[in-house]
Amino acid sequence: VEQARVTREDWAESSRRRWEVRYPELGTEPLSIEPYVSKEYFALECDRLFRHVWINVGREEEIPQPGDFFVKDISPTRSSILVARGKDGVVRASHNMCSHRGNKLVYDGRGHCDRFLCKFHGWSYGLDGRLLNVTDESQFCDLNKRELGLTPIATDTWEGFIFINLDPKPRESLTEYLGTLGEGLVGYPFAEKTACFAYQVEVKCNWKVFMNAFQEAYHLPFVHGQSVWRASRGGGNPLSRALDITLFPLHQTLSIYSNPSPDLNPVDQLVTRYGVSHSKRVVPIANLPPGLNRAGHPNWGFDLEVVFPNTMLLIFRIGIYIAYNFWPIDADRTLWDARMYNSPPRNAAQRFVLEWNRVNSYTALREDLSTLEAQQSALNSRAKSHVILQDNEIMIRHHYKTVDRFVRQSVE
Ligand code: FES
Ligand SMILES: [Fe+2]
Repeated sequence: VEQARVTREDWAESSRRRWEVRYPELGTEPLSIEPYVSKEYFALECDRLFRHVWINVGREEEIPQPGDFFVKDISPTRSSILVARGKDGVVRASHNMCSHRGNKLVYDGRGHCDRFLCKFHGWSYGLDGRLLNVTDESQFCDLNKRELGLTPIATDTWEGFIFINLDPKPRESLTEYLGTLGEGLVGYPFAEKTACFAYQVEVKCNWKVFMNAFQEAYHLPFVHGQSVWRASRGGGNPLSRALDITLFPLHQTLSIYSNPSPDLNPVDQLVTRYGVSHSKRVVPIANLPPGLNRAGHPNWGFDLEVVFPNTMLLIFRIGIYIAYNFWPIDADRTLWDARMYNSPPRNAAQRFVLEWNRVNSYTALREDLSTLEAQQSALNSRAKSHVILQDNEIMIRHHYKTVDRFVRQSVE
């Protein structure tokens, strides 16, 4: 009875257009499609946005030991970066480019080494980017080795996430940049979720078209009608309206409902029994960091945290989290990097649940990809000049306008 009362009130409450009232400054007007299709706009995004903000490039667990490194392509700025843990344990990023004639220093992937050796003429660099050795050094004139290290990139970490900023003089620290969103998630046990599986896919759509597909739950009944929608709707919330949307100056967070007694098929029942309740992985709501489930809803399922500009964290009550990075390649091409993080399984039942999660999330992700290329090709026709948004799509409007603020600012 108590449950029914809560959900009926939810429905009445959510039937008002709450978010446009909370954020009137965002307006309600249709949005021009140009930022989704224009090559000129894309070039401005690359120059005025991606070169000046903090960008997530990975997690510390990827390079646990001194000498571990990985290479990452930052596609919007055409940069290859080298992220390494130094002998002092500090994580540093630098441009992956030799100071001699500009060869790429490490060609791809990840590994472990003492020093980086250029394959062209054998110059070598330390893990901290210092130039160590120059082949046949006496043949160079006025070589100042101290100034010829790898070009460093501002690097910092937050809760195990590695961020870089390509601006030689970042306008603010990572802590300032992440602001209230970052503070609110401190303490979540990200580092315990070390069983990771990942997908990468290149999709022919604009990076914002791609992100927008995750920034609302309005699509659930149609795109995920046979999958995740079952768990995200209930008597009081048949259309999976948001429990909460909180917008920060740059970032944003969305809370999604979870049905406490969903209609489970036999496999789901096994998963719930062995994977979730038996392992006590469901985090009691009272123990969550304050940034999760901001509405304090008893039937909270997960939060979507959008870390501006191109990262999302989906943090679930059942103790897993997902990280997405959207790497813009061109106005209508995006590389998507999706990683799912679980606690390492301690027994066969938990291993089964992990595999189930892998397969099940693959289905949902394929569903999410299903509309993107069709949407982009229609947008490219410019047959309609604007798109329109409803109240539960307000995060799309906020992200769109935040990107636009960067694009319109003049740069010195
Ligand atoms: S380009 Fe690297 S040593 Fe010549
Ligand atoms: Fe989706």
